[in-house]
Amino acid sequence: MKYIQSYLAIILFVFVSCTGTAGTKKTEASTMRQVLNGKILIGCAVNVNQTNGEDSVGSAIIAAQYNSITPENCMKSEVIHPEENRYDFIASDAYVDYGMNHGMFIIGHCLVWHSQLAPWFCVDKDGKNVSPEVLKQRLKTHIETIVGRYKGRIKGWDVVNEAFNDDGTYRQSKFYQILGEEFIPLAFQYAHEADPDAELYYNDYSMVGAQKRDSVISMVRKLKARGIRIDGIGMQMHSTMEDPNLSGVEKSIEAFASTGCKVMITEFDMSVLPNPFAGTNASVANRFAYTEKTDPFSKGLPDSVSTAWNKRMNDFFLLFLKHADVISRVTMWGLADSDSWRNDWPIRGRTDYPLLFDRSHQSKAIVDSIISEAKKVSVVKR
Ligand code: GLA
Repeated sequence: MKYIQSYLAIILFVFVSCTGTAGTKKTEASTMRQVLNGKILIGCAVNVNQTNGEDSVGSAIIAAQYNSITPENCMKSEVIHPEENRYDFIASDAYVDYGMNHGMFIIGHCLVWHSQLAPWFCVDKDGKNVSPEVLKQRLKTHIETIVGRYKGRIKGWDVVNEAFNDDGTYRQSKFYQILGEEFIPLAFQYAHEADPDAELYYNDYSMVGAQKRDSVISMVRKLKARGIRIDGIGMQMHSTMEDPNLSGVEKSIEAFASTGCKVMITEFDMSVLPNPFAGTNASVANRFAYTEKTDPFSKGLPDSVSTAWNKRMNDFFLLFLKHADVISRVTMWGLADSDSWRNDWPIRGRTDYPLLFDRSHQSKAIVDSIISEAKKVSVVKR
C-alpha cells in the first residue's frame, strides 16, 4: 500500500510539474499579480457574472492577473439596501466569497454616494428630505450592517464617493443638504466603529483639477485633525487619450500623499473615442446623443490608435511604479473591453477599448509591458 501511495505521488508530481494545476501547459510567463506582489496591489472591478461563475473565462483571468477586486455595482445602496428594512446580500456575498477564495485584497464600494442611491435613503414617504437625526440614524444602520457583515474580509472601504464639485465646492447632494459637511466625518466614524481594522478611503473623479484636489486635501486634513480614521485617497481616473495629463496626475499623487494618506488609482480606464465634452468631468450624469461620427471604431481599432493607447497606458503605469512608495493600489474599472461602462458613457451604444484585455479576453501589449517594468522596480513603502 505504502509503495502504491509513493508511486501515485510521483506520478502526480510529474503531471503537475509538466502541466500546471489547471491541466494547461505550464509556461514561464508571469502575471501582473505575481510580479507586482508586494509592490502595488493590482485590482479589477468585477461584475456579478464574474463572481458568480457565469463568466468563467473572465473569472479565471481576474484570479490569475489581479490580487484586488472592487464590486462594480453590487454594493451600491440601490442594490444592497433597496428598502429601509430590506437588504439584498446575494451578489455581495458571492463577491466576497470569490475574493476570499482567490486570496484577494477585497474592496467595499461604496457606502455613501449621491448616485445609484436607494430612493428611500434621504426622504420620507412623502418624498421630503428627512431630518438630520433620521438621516444620521439611517447612515449609521446602513454602514454598520454592511461593514459589520464583511468585517475582517473586506479590507478597505470607499466610505464616501464624489462629495465635491470640480470647482471645489461641496456637491449639493441630499447628504450635504441635510447634514452639511458633517456627513463625511460621520460616515468615516460609523465605518471605523463597524470594523476598526478596515482601511477607509475617500474616492472621487477629476482629482487633477486644482480646486477639487485642494478641497479634498483640506477635508482629509480636517478629519485627521479630529482623530477620525482615513487611510487613503482614491483617484478614479476615468481617462481619455487627452485627459488627464501625466504631469497633473503626478502633482496630485504627490499632493495627496502629503496628507499621510495612501494614494490609490481606483477606477482606471482610458477611452479612445471622441470626447463630447471639454475637460475631464466624469460625472455619470453626463450623457450625449449617438451619431456614427461619435463611434469611429465600431468595426475594429486601427493599429495606430492601439499603439498610441498602449503607449499612453504604459506612461501611466511607469508613473505609478515611480510613486509606488505611496501608491498602494491601481484598480482597472473592469476586465475586458466588452465589460466596460465606457461603451455606454457618455454616449450609449459605442464600441470602446478602454481596458487591459480585449473583447476576446486576450491581453493587450500593455500587460506584457507592465510585467516587464514591474520586474525591474523594487519598492520601499513610505
Ligand atoms: C463612478 C463610480 C463607479 C462607477 C463609475 C461608472 O466613478 O464610483 O462605481 O459607477 O462611476 O461606472
